[in-house]
Amino acid sequence: MDNVFEKISSVGVVPVIKLNNPEKDAAGLANALCEGGVPVAEVTFRAAGAAKAIELMTKARPDMLVGAGTVLCEEQVDEAIAAGAKFIVSPGLDTELVKYCQKKGIAIFPGCTSPTDYHAAYRLGLKVLKFFPAEQSGGLAKIKAMSAPFPMFKVMPTGGISLKNLSEYLSCPIICACGGSYMVTADLIDNQKWDEIIDLCKKSVQIVKEVRG
Ligand code: 3PG
Repeated sequence: MDNVFEKISSVGVVPVIKLNNPEKDAAGLANALCEGGVPVAEVTFRAAGAAKAIELMTKARPDMLVGAGTVLCEEQVDEAIAAGAKFIVSPGLDTELVKYCQKKGIAIFPGCTSPTDYHAAYRLGLKVLKFFPAEQSGGLAKIKAMSAPFPMFKVMPTGGISLKNLSEYLSCPIICACGGSYMVTADLIDNQKWDEIIDLCKKSVQIVKEVRG
């Protein structure tokens, strides 16, 4: 599980993907992300066929770290693991779901934004949280304020992050990586604009390098 965290941190950005047509787009998308230097993806269960998308992306690029997002129940955890997902992301913190993932030995990053969420995450032994929805929940100022009583966590903010504010977020040492859909929008995927996705990934990687030196 530590390897998952290390890989996500080293890349620095996590594309949040809703894949409507996995048979058509999964392999091309996986290749584009890897070519752009972002061999990580959170494939959300917001689209039917998410498990298929995880399976096909992993098959196309075994070197890629593919996880499942918007996971709301145990059945989806099972589906995601069977498809090859290496981590689970949930929009909120559900104690039972976290315990289920821990029992299954798969990393889970639950969405947390309040002291109550963080406290529950602490009691569950978690070390890395998704901070969601980041911009709408108070952004960087809130992330910093939360780290005063809870300095033990690293966070992955997601929600409202783009090339415009990526550098600002990544400059904060509490943040291990930023999630976002800006490099994998529906338009880019549905129209197979792989070159644009590669370009957005490369620009993101450049920002990660600039911030981290
Ligand atoms: C998520 O599920 O993590 C967010 O919906 C992604 O947010 P964004 O579209 O603002 O990047």
